[in-house]
Amino acid sequence: MCGIIGLVGSFNHYDVLLKGLKRLEYRGYDSSGIGYLNKDGIVINKYPESVDTLFKEVKKFTAYCSIGHTRWATHGKVSYKNTHPFISKNGLFCLVHNGTINNFLTLKEELISNGYIMNGDTDSEVLVNYLEYLFLNNHNILLSLKLLDSKLDGSYSLVIISKNEEALYFLKNQTSLLLIEKEEGYVLTSDVYSLDDKEINYYEFEDHQYGKIDNNVEIYKNDIKISHNFKRLIKDDVNINSCSCYLEKELFECPALIEKEIQYYSKSESIPQNVINELNSKRKIYVIGCGTSFHAGLIFKEIVDKEVEVILASEFIYQNKSLNENDGYIFISQSGETLDVIRSIEKVKNAFFISITNNKDSTISRKSKYHFDIMVQKEISVASTKAYFGEVVFLYILAKRMNDENYKEIFDLPFRMNQIKSNIKEIETLAYQVKEYKNLLFLGKGIDYLSCLECSLKLKEITYIHSEAIYLGELKHGPLALINKDFPSIILITNDELKEIGEISINEIKSRDGKVFIKQFDSSYKLSFLLQVYYYDFLAFLVAKNLGVNIDKPRNLAKSVTVE
Ligand code: AGP
Ligand code: GLU
Repeated sequence: MCGIIGLVGSFNHYDVLLKGLKRLEYRGYDSSGIGYLNKDGIVINKYPESVDTLFKEVKKFTAYCSIGHTRWATHGKVSYKNTHPFISKNGLFCLVHNGTINNFLTLKEELISNGYIMNGDTDSEVLVNYLEYLFLNNHNILLSLKLLDSKLDGSYSLVIISKNEEALYFLKNQTSLLLIEKEEGYVLTSDVYSLDDKEINYYEFEDHQYGKIDNNVEIYKNDIKISHNFKRLIKDDVNINSCSCYLEKELFECPALIEKEIQYYSKSESIPQNVINELNSKRKIYVIGCGTSFHAGLIFKEIVDKEVEVILASEFIYQNKSLNENDGYIFISQSGETLDVIRSIEKVKNAFFISITNNKDSTISRKSKYHFDIMVQKEISVASTKAYFGEVVFLYILAKRMNDENYKEIFDLPFRMNQIKSNIKEIETLAYQVKEYKNLLFLGKGIDYLSCLECSLKLKEITYIHSEAIYLGELKHGPLALINKDFPSIILITNDELKEIGEISINEIKSRDGKVFIKQFDSSYKLSFLLQVYYYDFLAFLVAKNLGVNIDKPRNLAKSVTVE
């Protein structure tokens, strides 16, 4: 799931390309590279490192057109030979790719039997050579793109430089690709945030469109020329000033941001009554998301008095069950760009659905008639923290509105989160102990177990300490076998009635030399289950800080997962 950008026109290519890639890094940061065409031909610079290396190593240049890529590897290790852009065997094309090709091995074999040699392991390198292979037979790039499209099984946004033309070519299927109109020329890119302009004119390509962009815009689908209209977009102010650690900033600003969100969504018109009625009229509601957003969805199911199934987007798209026309859907995605969620929306696009994102300018928001913004401002750290609270706050108010219940307890949440923030010394002491372990269990019951899932994900994601969330009652049905002096447990209990049963488990763990960490939260406060997540998010952050790892960019991950 990479970020791609291409420029054609009188841009300062060096500046716009590199800064654009930096802004796309949330989509991947394993490797980065650029390619451009100037009077000497095609030049490429690429490194199996993040965009910062491009800033250090690439000399300023001028170009007719240029392309850039920041990678999250899907096919082949992070190495120079697998870094984009790729140049075809005879040097006719240079290409960047976002996506994955399922049948790339078949195409690769065909190319090899026709004398092509490929150095790397990516599906993308096969694409640039296959395009050239088609072109050498028909001498027509647009026709070759159409044929390439018909040969491919998978997802692909391709931006391509052709050696002999001051133009960019493109082909798009399943992963997002936009055309942006600027005074200096045109930009082809994965999303609107690659440019820092506040206002832009953009066109979003549809699947199987291909074409050529120079001074003119030529878009085709199946040989038919497609007309295009640019849409005007005024972006939200995105404050991405540099900061030594975004996770820390995002945790600290969280209470103030959700306070605004609570104020906004507690006005009844901000969630229109017809949306509440529609959802209530459904036989069943499916809540769909991934990772932390999936965890937020689980809280909705716990609160709402209605039949709800919370399902991972990656499972939903492959489910063979026939859809019931009386069902409704809620899609949750912080970034609004997660491919599995986009594909889930496509599966039910004619049904009633709403989407919840932190990015009103995202693909998911654009696809939704009813879109709700969690308004917690751009989240940059790969670990999602403030967005989790933003999602849960919205879903909590939605559930309570659907139940026709009041939700006055939520107004106290920011204050109580601030109390945790001001008591960070206590969490520092805990972090100092936890950092010594390689494994850890989070144990809880009922809604506390749902908090365990989120706490455990956060800890493993940013500290690399292996952790699992286990139902308290399941401990003795297997996981207890893991417990010894090197394998501690963190217990989450906010319900007084469960304290006794909790004590039993604590004793069982202690009898096996297991260390137990437990923090008491006010059990009379209905939303204490959320305060626990805030507390243990800080723990994960402080452990990571102690361990000296890259907190904002954990290894192997990306902020937004735009491939399957
Ligand atoms: C959370 O810390 C993760 N980085 C990840 O699980 C994330 O929540 C997931 O990829 C979903 O992203 P989205 O909300 O942008 O769709
Ligand atoms: N499949 C390509 C690679 O591994 C592109 C990856 C992506 O878009 O995530 O380089």
